[in-house]
Amino acid sequence: MAEKRCWDQSQLRKYDIPLDEIPRLSVRDPRVDEFIAENKPVVITDTKLVASAERWDLDYLEQNMGNGDFSVFLSRNHKFKYFDDKKIAHASGDSRLDFTPPTRRVDMKLPDFTRRLRQWRRGDERMYLQQALNNTVGPAIVQDFLNFRWDWINSKQRTHSWGPLTSNLLLIAMEGNVTPCHYDEQQNFFAEVRGYKRCILFPPEQFECLYPHPVYHPHDRQSQVDFERPDYARFPKFREARGQEAIVGPGDVLYIPIYWWHHIESLMRGGYTISVNFWYKAGPTGQIVYPLKDHQKVAIMRNVEKMLVEALQDPHEVGPLLRALVLGRYTD
Ligand code: FUM
Ligand code: FE
Repeated sequence: MAEKRCWDQSQLRKYDIPLDEIPRLSVRDPRVDEFIAENKPVVITDTKLVASAERWDLDYLEQNMGNGDFSVFLSRNHKFKYFDDKKIAHASGDSRLDFTPPTRRVDMKLPDFTRRLRQWRRGDERMYLQQALNNTVGPAIVQDFLNFRWDWINSKQRTHSWGPLTSNLLLIAMEGNVTPCHYDEQQNFFAEVRGYKRCILFPPEQFECLYPHPVYHPHDRQSQVDFERPDYARFPKFREARGQEAIVGPGDVLYIPIYWWHHIESLMRGGYTISVNFWYKAGPTGQIVYPLKDHQKVAIMRNVEKMLVEALQDPHEVGPLLRALVLGRYTD
């Protein structure tokens, strides 16, 4: 039976990128493990992974989240591009950077956040709560957390020899919020609890099309391309980018493979969204098999780049050195 669609095209932002659909498979479908084993994205339905969080809405969270501080990002527009505070000082000597943080992070108690969300008016700063679940949460949330389908997710971790679970990030977004395109260095089961998100993914081999910021930059791992107004003169290969998309709703789990690029938006006019990320370290490398996989090549590029920035002590020297190394020798 066809699934009832709870959103329409007018809720999606418009981008000039060709997109294929990410397959949706039932948790009972044996192909799920094939996708995960091949580091390919898949939406897994009926896992019940976070079914115990079905009742999580603003009232319930306000009453049960406890008195801890929650990280909330504030933005003057709908984009919440991640940056690494620790890299700001490092970047400050580089005249090309001129870095201005696009969002600011504040600590809020949950009831302050929900009050501001309910009172929000157009023109106010937008908010995006992003907080790792920790031991300050109240007993009802602890119970919901313990009731996540750990048996299912632990068996996936074992089957695919992933490393340890590193964190569970709780994300509460306003409708229309966008997390711009970036990649993470961990495996991610992205579980949607409430509302709908559109996820656009690109495989690691499209590194050249997506132009990540340099590794020492506060926006390390983020694409420099603004999907809404791509600067094709600076980023010509972005025309060759080809993505895969899925709209995830309550009960869906999207597998976002390590090093896969992802852009995530809460649908417009859909109300707030709640998601929980399950992040896992990559498993031990074991025996290296050639040819290397594309994500392994990205890891190598990151290491070489870090090493050169460190050794040369001046990021401006990296390009000329690499050019001298390859031109006429490793190029045709
Ligand atoms: O906005 C988001 O849901 C982002 C998630 C992620 O980058 O993993
Ligand atoms: Fe991410």
